[in-house]
Amino acid sequence: MRDGTDSGGLPRLWKGEKHMSKVFEPKILAFLCNWCSYAGADLAGVSRFQYPSSIRVIRTMCSGRVDPLYITEGLKSGFDQVSVFGCHLGDCHYLDGNVFASKRMRLVEHLLDLSGIGRTRMALRWVSAAEGQIFADTVKELTETTRNLGPFDRVAMGLRLAAVETVLRGPRMRWLTGMDRQITERGNVYHDKMDESLFQEMLKLAAEEEYQKALLLESLKEGPLSVREMAAKTGLPVYTVSLRLNDLERRGQAELKEYEGSTPKFVGLAA
Ligand code: FES
Repeated sequence: MRDGTDSGGLPRLWKGEKHMSKVFEPKILAFLCNWCSYAGADLAGVSRFQYPSSIRVIRTMCSGRVDPLYITEGLKSGFDQVSVFGCHLGDCHYLDGNVFASKRMRLVEHLLDLSGIGRTRMALRWVSAAEGQIFADTVKELTETTRNLGPFDRVAMGLRLAAVETVLRGPRMRWLTGMDRQITERGNVYHDKMDESLFQEMLKLAAEEEYQKALLLESLKEGPLSVREMAAKTGLPVYTVSLRLNDLERRGQAELKEYEGSTPKFVGLAA
């Protein structure tokens, strides 16, 4: 497959790139489903459609196999953007793998927005085996978007990215996203279904709550902090910190450690 290199393995330039030698060149990690998008990328190479050399490809059997944690792992590993490419809806070779992918990635987008990292650090795109030109155009578009965002600052965003990762790894959000279709399409044992938009709202609220708690626990990893110190470190309002700290204490994930003067300081407890 051609992945933005010419036959000699050298980066192939696309129009407009030749005058940008000093411009930031983003690194994009792309997961391509084997049956459609990877074949589409192959067609782009065979057809000699030009696209930026910013993309690094990992082939996966289906977009549904891409765990949300791969997005955070990609950002942690030095990529400026992580994309998932799959078959068009209705064309998945495993029937509905791409439907699951879209539901999972919607949660990742929401968490990236909550954290301030922003959803544009990831993308989900559908490209068929016959759409070589669309693949090339999509890589250009994603490269341009990421170039405008600038490099992903892993250090400045470390605390927030770690909190997003904790939420994605946690059982609550994994269970909720896994049960999405059961709850909204098939219903419970009494055949009661929840309205899709209502479920999405509930999912967003749960994600926000989990994210705030994970962020507090991340902030406590460096030692005891007061409520105000946690608020300053995480950017959360003092009221929200108090509320979530209460939840964490009830769950045995945080506790009062000491007093500095009359100010209580808290620590996180290993789960
Ligand atoms: Fe391509 Fe499932 S096989 S998205």
